[in-house]
Amino acid sequence: MQTKGIILAGGSGTRLYPMTAVFSKQLQPIYDKPMIYYPMAILMLAGIQDILVISTPEDTPNYEKLLGEGTKWGINLSYKVQTNPGGIAEAFIYGDEFIGNKQVCLILGDNIFYGKLDFLRKAIENNTGGTIFGYSVNNPSSYGVVEFNENWEVISIEEKPKQPKSKYAIPGLYIFTGDVVGIAKNLKPGPRGELEITDVQLEYLKRKKLKVELIGRGIAWLDTGTPENLIEASTFIHAIEKRQGRKIACLEEIALEMNFISREKFIETVIQLPNCSYKDYCLDVIK
Ligand code: DAU
Repeated sequence: MQTKGIILAGGSGTRLYPMTAVFSKQLQPIYDKPMIYYPMAILMLAGIQDILVISTPEDTPNYEKLLGEGTKWGINLSYKVQTNPGGIAEAFIYGDEFIGNKQVCLILGDNIFYGKLDFLRKAIENNTGGTIFGYSVNNPSSYGVVEFNENWEVISIEEKPKQPKSKYAIPGLYIFTGDVVGIAKNLKPGPRGELEITDVQLEYLKRKKLKVELIGRGIAWLDTGTPENLIEASTFIHAIEKRQGRKIACLEEIALEMNFISREKFIETVIQLPNCSYKDYCLDVIK
């Protein structure tokens, strides 16, 4: 089944002010690339080639400038403006036409994952309603939190609970069948005045169509909410890239590896890059 991808890259980014006074959060650097490269890489590595980027009226033109139509990476990028940050679940309303009745994988533009992505590919393949993930963290109250009974069945999902019922946070990576559009359209705003993504999950739970897959310690899921998180994520990416001599989220390399583009197309794209270490790296990839 063809799966569509959405990257939600809007929001006000106030917690990162003054960095976000001019450029949105998901354009900030994580070591050597703009933040949005990382979620883009995840969708591409999951085999998704049709991707909608949703952002604010001010920032959408910047994303278009940065990412273009995606042809150089063998993917099809489209854009949609979210007029107000009315909640993550609004992505499915803005994505209505784009999704059609296809399955969709939503990733938040500020969520960074690193590791073997088999868990995601499998989840996309096996999804029959909604699939979300659980990841053990030391600060669950900053996230959506999922609680299980002793048989690992979900008993509650709460958005940023003051007293979390488990340590399992729900990362900003979700897979839903096409009926998510109708579900999102029927949501009422939560206490924050937003259409909450956790309410979408609860609706699938009610319909007995929600799967929660635990992501283990082999995967790093990094936060980018605060200036400290930014430097931690940058340091993490830097350490691995330096040690391995391989870049994380080099979209040209991923496009080639995924066979989204030919070797010829890769070379054509790379020679057009300005002289920089990113270009040198890409040139090394084909050697
Ligand atoms: O990171 C995972 C967490 O993301 C989940 O565990 C939570 O359940 C989910 O609500 C969300 O929590 P956040 O506190 O990170 O949500 P935030 O409002 O910061 O929005 C997440 C990203 O989505 C952020 O980069 C901005 C973007 N966004 C957000 C809203 C509300 C939009 O583009 N439009 C919006 O309307």
